[in-house]
Amino acid sequence: VIRSAVTGVGSYLPEQIVTNADLAQIVETSDEWIQERTGIKQRHKARDDQPTSDLAVEAAKRALIDAGKTAADVDLIVVATTTPDMTFPATASIVQRKLGVPVCPAFDVQAVCSGFVYALSVADGFVARGLAKCALVIGAEEMTRLLDWTDRSTCVLFGDGAGAFVVEPREGQGTTADQGLLGFALRCDGSKTDLLYVDGGPATTGSVGHLRMAGNQVFKYAVINIAEAITAACKVSGLEVSEVDWFVPHQANQRILRGVGDRLGLEEHKVISTVAMHANTSAASIPLAMDAAIQDGRIKRGDLVLLEAMGGGLTWGACAFRF
Ligand code: ACO
Repeated sequence: VIRSAVTGVGSYLPEQIVTNADLAQIVETSDEWIQERTGIKQRHKARDDQPTSDLAVEAAKRALIDAGKTAADVDLIVVATTTPDMTFPATASIVQRKLGVPVCPAFDVQAVCSGFVYALSVADGFVARGLAKCALVIGAEEMTRLLDWTDRSTCVLFGDGAGAFVVEPREGQGTTADQGLLGFALRCDGSKTDLLYVDGGPATTGSVGHLRMAGNQVFKYAVINIAEAITAACKVSGLEVSEVDWFVPHQANQRILRGVGDRLGLEEHKVISTVAMHANTSAASIPLAMDAAIQDGRIKRGDLVLLEAMGGGLTWGACAFRF
């Protein structure tokens, strides 16, 4: 088994910013309510002519530069998205074309907000079996296209964006012996599909549909189960939770981050939070937060990092790695 390492990180946010005050013009809400209940101040929104693949390509280009690689080096593309450009082909195929990546395996992973952790585990498996030497793992989402702009309980929570990791075999990267992806815990409880879903699709309405969520129930389920997955991912990685330098959670809601932190006794300064500026960008939120914390100098090479997420499915999971 070949161990894989994260050798490059990049992200991209579309230009347009939508503030809470902007949303208060559309639905009956207020900046105060949104900030108090969620921690969100603003979100980014893609242009009408800017599909998910465009955000993915920008993030991927930045991750490749960070890893010192080019599109010609890439031999696997896994895109985690719940807002594909089209029903098919996979957004990964479109990303491959736009980036100019040679023929290689390319496909999407659909695990909603947990998609990035799932996609990373897929790339890790390819690398472990010697099937990939330079994998692009991308989380890219345009959640604003799925929102019901008359439903104030959901339309204030989400935003658009993309983030990407380059994943390579650890050998030859100038990495230390303990560097690389260490362990995963992945979960799905399909009995909870009705708590968070999009009410469209080919076999139902034939339309794209809108996001529906029982927010309160998701909230309670999230705090308990994310904490369990973090503990499990640390255990399979041979780590104590207290050894982790940085927690990079899926950014759904500041209160969920705090709830999980309280449950596990995490030090608040170790939990990366970008929810105020990005809102919930589903599968893109983890690589976006990771990149933000690298750019501002917090996360450094050699640090122990833990990623975690929960989303529709309900799916959830966690991954520990030494950066
Ligand atoms: N502005 C003003 N009032 C609002 C808004 C809004 N945007 N949205 C809801 N309200 C009102 C409701 O109508 C309700 O009014 P009522 O009491 O008169 O009926 C009141 O606020 C309380 O509503 P609740 O839903 O009970 O509010 P809650 O404190 O649970 O907060 C929230 C709602 C923020 C959605 C919360 O449940 C939550 O964060 N849940 C987590 C779910 C989540 O973030 N999911 C993201 C996807 S899954 C994931 O990524 C983990």
